[in-house]
Amino acid sequence: MTRVLALNGSPRGVRSNTAAILTPFLEGAREAGARVETLIVRDLDIGFCQGCFTCWTSTPGVCCQKDDMAGILDKFQVADYAVFATPLYHYGMAAKLKALLERTLPLLDPHLVRRGRVTTHDPRKGVRFPRLVLVSNCGFPERDHFRSLVEQFRQLTEGRGPAATILVPAGEALGRRYSPGGPFDWFYKALHRAGAELVKEGRLSPETQEILARPLVPPEVYNEAANRSFDSTLT
Ligand SMILES: Cc1cc2nc3c(=O)[nH]c(=O)nc-3n(C[C@H](O)[C@H](O)[C@H](O)COP(=O)(O)O)c2cc1C
Repeated sequence: MTRVLALNGSPRGVRSNTAAILTPFLEGAREAGARVETLIVRDLDIGFCQGCFTCWTSTPGVCCQKDDMAGILDKFQVADYAVFATPLYHYGMAAKLKALLERTLPLLDPHLVRRGRVTTHDPRKGVRFPRLVLVSNCGFPERDHFRSLVEQFRQLTEGRGPAATILVPAGEALGRRYSPGGPFDWFYKALHRAGAELVKEGRLSPETQEILARPLVPPEVYNEAANRSFDSTLT
């Protein structure tokens, strides 16, 4: 059975645009037969990597910090897919999700391995990494804002790219909640299909990708509505 581990990295937790996107996506994955677990990263005890490298030296594979991360690494070991779901914060992932990502270092073997023109680390012997899936939404209405985040995930996957990438500009249009049947029903249905396709095919179909790339709202309309809303709270 396919196992999906979803990491909701929004500091807003379950009341977030990230959750609104994840909900139908994971529902689709579940209905296609996957076992799905979602972690609300905000609610976990995850310290920052201290850069001590003890997980590579004196205690190979084991971090010196005793917090929730050991359990999360166990979940990584059995997951087929790890869905990194994050709001875009300053062109990257939100800080606590980044902390979680950094704390996966114990899973890597310290030796430097050169493949082609690039040096990397292999997973530690016996460790298996889930395939990554990137889900992000942002406050601005253009896709270009995701460029750095997409490049980071391309490098994290040694140039292969994640198994699936779902990018949602103008994410605040979702109103931080999943509301099927409303104006974004077409989008939620495509997300549901995307979750099922990931589990069944290991990728998203070009048709589903095309629908998910459609703007939720035209940029001018979105900006005007956002500015009106800011003005009304400021005055
Ligand atoms: C600290 C901070 C940094 C942000 N940086 C960006 C950014 O670089 N680009 C962007 O388009 N939106 C940015 N945003 C807006 C969020 O991406 C946007 O509000 C998003 O819809 C939040 O999603 P969530 O509800 O899933 O947390 C930022 C918001 C915050 C609070």
